[in-house]
Amino acid sequence: MDGRAALPLRGRQEELSRVQKRLEEVRSGVGAVVVVEGRAGLGKTRLLDACASLASGLSFRVGRGMAEPGRSVVDLQALLDAMFDGEDPLVARHALSSLHTSPEQTFWLLHDLQALLEEAALANPLLIGLDDLQWAGTSLALAIRQLPQRLASLPVAWVMAFRPNQGHPAAVEAKLELLKAGGEFISLGPLDREAIADVAADVLGAEPDEQLLERAERVHGSPFLLVEFFRGLQDEGIVSVARGHRRRFARAAFFVGRPRADERDRAHRSAGTGPRSAGRRHLY
Ligand SMILES: Nc1ncnc2c1ncn2[C@@H]1O[C@H](COP(=O)(O)OP(=O)(O)OP(=O)(O)O)[C@@H](O)[C@H]1O
Ligand SMILES: [Mg+2]
Repeated sequence: MDGRAALPLRGRQEELSRVQKRLEEVRSGVGAVVVVEGRAGLGKTRLLDACASLASGLSFRVGRGMAEPGRSVVDLQALLDAMFDGEDPLVARHALSSLHTSPEQTFWLLHDLQALLEEAALANPLLIGLDDLQWAGTSLALAIRQLPQRLASLPVAWVMAFRPNQGHPAAVEAKLELLKAGGEFISLGPLDREAIADVAADVLGAEPDEQLLERAERVHGSPFLLVEFFRGLQDEGIVSVARGHRRRFARAAFFVGRPRADERDRAHRSAGTGPRSAGRRHLY
C-alpha cells in the first residue's frame, strides 16, 4: 500500500449487478461460479474485493485466497487460505491438522475439503474468492474444476479471477469447463470515458476538463494506469484546479508543447516501479 486512501470502484456497475444476481440465486440454496477475466491492472482483484463486500452485505461468509507462481508443491494453498485464513475463517483452523496434506494425497485432500465446505455451507452461504488463477498448478486446477461441481446443490459462490491467455493448460481447461457448466463470465474491459472522468475526479478532487480527459484516454482505460497517471500529474504539480461558479475543473496546466506520448510513457514506466497494493509488479 502507498498509504493513500482507497479510491471508489468506478465503471463496474454492470459487472457487479451480474454478480449480485448470482449471489441472490446462491442464497436460495444453489452453487454458482463467476469467472472474472482481465489483463493486468484492469481491476480483477478490485472487483473481487467488491464481490466480497457485496456478499458480506448479503450475509455470506467470505474466504479469499490467491495463487502464486512457483507454488507447485503447495499448489492448493490459495484454497486453504480461502477456507482457513483470516479473523473469522470459513472452517475452524483445527480441522487443518486432520487433513491429508502430502502431495500424493491430493485426491483425499480434496475429499476432506469438500466435506468441510459442505458442513460450512449448510450453516451459511459461502463466497470463495480465488485470485490470480493464471498461476494455478494441476492440483488447484483440479480443485476448481471439481469442488464447484460437487458442491453445486449447496449455497457456495465461487468467484475466480484469471488473466487471459495465460496459465497452466490444466487451469485453462478448468476455466473452460466451469464456463461450459454455466459459470458467469465477466471479461473486464477498459473503463469508459465516464468512469475515467470519475477516477480523475476521485484522484484530483475536481472534474477533468476535455483536454485532460483526452490525455487520460491514451492510457487505454486501464484503471491501474489511470490512477498512476492522475496521481503522477498531481504529485508533479502538473494539474491545476480552476474554480468555476459552481464546479471545480481540473486542467492539465503544462501539457501544451510536450511530446505526444510523454505522459503515457511515464505512466508505463511508473507501472514498473510504483507502489503495488498486492506487492507484485504489473506486467504490460
Ligand atoms: N474500477 C475501478 N475503479 C477505480 N480504481 C480501480 C478500478 N479497478 C481497479 N482499480 C485500481 O487499479 C489498480 C489495479 O487494480 P487491480 O489490482 O484490481 O488489477 P488486477 O486486474 O487485479 O491486476 P493483476 O492482474 O496485476 O493482479 C488498483 O489500484 C485498483 O484499486
Ligand atoms: Mg490482481
